[in-house]
Amino acid sequence: MEIPAKRWYQAVKERNSRRQFNSKIIEKRKIKKLNNLIEVLNNDIEGLRIILIQKEVEEIFTGIIGSYGKITGAPAYLAFVGREDISNMEEKIGYGGEAVILEATALELGSCWVSGTFKSDKVLADLNLNQKEKLYAISPIGYPEAKPTISERVLKKVIKSKKRLDLKKLIVNKNNLEKIPEWMITALETARLAPSALNRQPWRFKIEGNSIIIQLDNKEKNEERSKNIDCGIAMLHLEIGAMKAGFTGKWQYLKGDKVAIFSLD
Ligand SMILES: Cc1cc2nc3c(=O)[nH]c(=O)nc-3n(C[C@H](O)[C@H](O)[C@H](O)COP(=O)(O)O)c2cc1C
Repeated sequence: MEIPAKRWYQAVKERNSRRQFNSKIIEKRKIKKLNNLIEVLNNDIEGLRIILIQKEVEEIFTGIIGSYGKITGAPAYLAFVGREDISNMEEKIGYGGEAVILEATALELGSCWVSGTFKSDKVLADLNLNQKEKLYAISPIGYPEAKPTISERVLKKVIKSKKRLDLKKLIVNKNNLEKIPEWMITALETARLAPSALNRQPWRFKIEGNSIIIQLDNKEKNEERSKNIDCGIAMLHLEIGAMKAGFTGKWQYLKGDKVAIFSLD
């Protein structure tokens, strides 16, 4: 996949989860753009299958606190499916899924990663999964209400979804940010803005020369909702930030609680 760095860097800044949509239908031109990107991603990333389903989605979402946080009104949704037997599938879901979310943002469409508050049986009825495939998450897609509704605002306050940890807290082996090259700061700042389940921001960064390692925040076993999907999302953000600063590189997966290392080309 070719990353349109400028376009998606802007989208990183503009994106925030939207949960209430109006009934405006998504233009065919935008559906086509998203489907073209999805085709490239599904071909490039082994085991990944993202599906855009044009269908009113109300009945598949549940609330977070009572009916608060329930997603309503979207005319379409994305299903993020992957093969369980492929290594690092969760990171790949996060990385590939966020590419579509950022392109949707650039097309002025709203979205919200959802891995918990939905009824998977209702979604599975729309998909034709083979035995090795698993549904990891979904996202509504559509035109959000012009301003966040009261329900959306209450939820964002409860989850503190606008807050992000300081970069100093995220970098495990350097506490003097002034000594870090500028491209790395841009890359890390872009990763820092990534969305994560419950806004838990489980990524930490270790700087090794001209490379950046992304790792999980602690050595405890993964929680029920995968932190590795969150890390995959942050990986794409980091790469976009590096490109924005004029640097390209490649990710390589690592073993154990370290997730992957980004090294410059
Ligand atoms: C992998 C993943 C799973 C998520 N699952 C849910 C969910 O089940 N329900 C929900 O309402 N929001 C969900 N979210 C949205 C997060 O709460 C949101 O991204 C976070 O609070 C940061 O807010 P922002 O996206 O507005 O920046 C999820 C986000 C991610 C990345």
